[in-house]
Amino acid sequence: MHKNLIKNSCIFELNHTNGADIPDSVLACQENIEFMRHLPDAKFKLIVTSPPYNLGKSYENKMLLDDYLVAQEQVINECVRLLHPQGSICWQVGNCVENGEIIPLDTILYPVFVSHKLKLRNRIIWHFGHGLHCRRRLSGRYETINWWTKTNNYTWHLDPIRVPSKYPNKRHFKGPNIGKLSGNPNGKNPSDVWTFPNVKSNHPEKTVHPCQFPVELVERLVLSMTNEGDYVFDPYMGVGSTIVAALKHNRHGYGCDIIPQYVEIAQQRVRALISGTLKTRPMDKPIYDPSLPNGGH
Ligand SMILES: C[S@@+](CC[C@H](N)C(=O)[O-])C[C@H]1O[C@@H](n2cnc3c(N)ncnc32)[C@H](O)[C@@H]1O
Repeated sequence: MHKNLIKNSCIFELNHTNGADIPDSVLACQENIEFMRHLPDAKFKLIVTSPPYNLGKSYENKMLLDDYLVAQEQVINECVRLLHPQGSICWQVGNCVENGEIIPLDTILYPVFVSHKLKLRNRIIWHFGHGLHCRRRLSGRYETINWWTKTNNYTWHLDPIRVPSKYPNKRHFKGPNIGKLSGNPNGKNPSDVWTFPNVKSNHPEKTVHPCQFPVELVERLVLSMTNEGDYVFDPYMGVGSTIVAALKHNRHGYGCDIIPQYVEIAQQRVRALISGTLKTRPMDKPIYDPSLPNGGH
């Protein structure tokens, strides 16, 4: 299937026809632009990623901001080509920092998505409890996920991602529905503020990667924005958190990364998932609360 994809790169195709009932995945050790070039238009129902933030991390070269924007634009252009008409792009970013000044990356990338006539459905705030302690500004404890759709006719399911209501037994106290439950008995809309622990050393998903996002965050996107059997892609795959989330829910997972060690780990995580040994933090696990017995767990 991908035989003529680039030399000097490595493509792992995991075809599970003999084993577990899990769709196929393609994990490539390759530049994303090169990998995407060989994929057909409109293949993916969901493209979810967290690109480098131009901070000079071990896996990126810090660039002039204008050059970073041009590079992001090239990748986004290809993602739009690969996006299914009913599909979604979720671009998860934080801030770039220049001389102590923060540059929120979603705001500077906004015009790129708008130039493709994509439609912004939500600007999701991902809040987490841990991170760097800043001395000359407030410590940053959120990043954003901008959810864009290609058209107004997009795949969307609220029910699989409902969360417990605060007052599940609340009832209408007047009107024709008096006495009936006022909320949905299956839970409430999770809103556009999501609290998930970030992947630090005590997180069950932690690998050597310095900036993994949690699988539960991607699971929420996969469950609400795709159907079983759909294709999900991450152009900056890292250690394959997106692929794991897609496969867990019977979607196909495609991803690429330029660092062989990360791709190797992604492959190991997929194999562990298939064999039933991969540990991920469950989507419904409450956030640790030191004021409760056993942290509320
Ligand atoms: C923020 S990390 C993503 C981590 C990922 N979400 C996870 O959970 O493991 C960004 C990743 O982009 C990769 N990367 C940087 N430039 C790339 C490129 N041109 N093509 C593909 N991957 C690239 C880096 O190696 C890094 O792993």
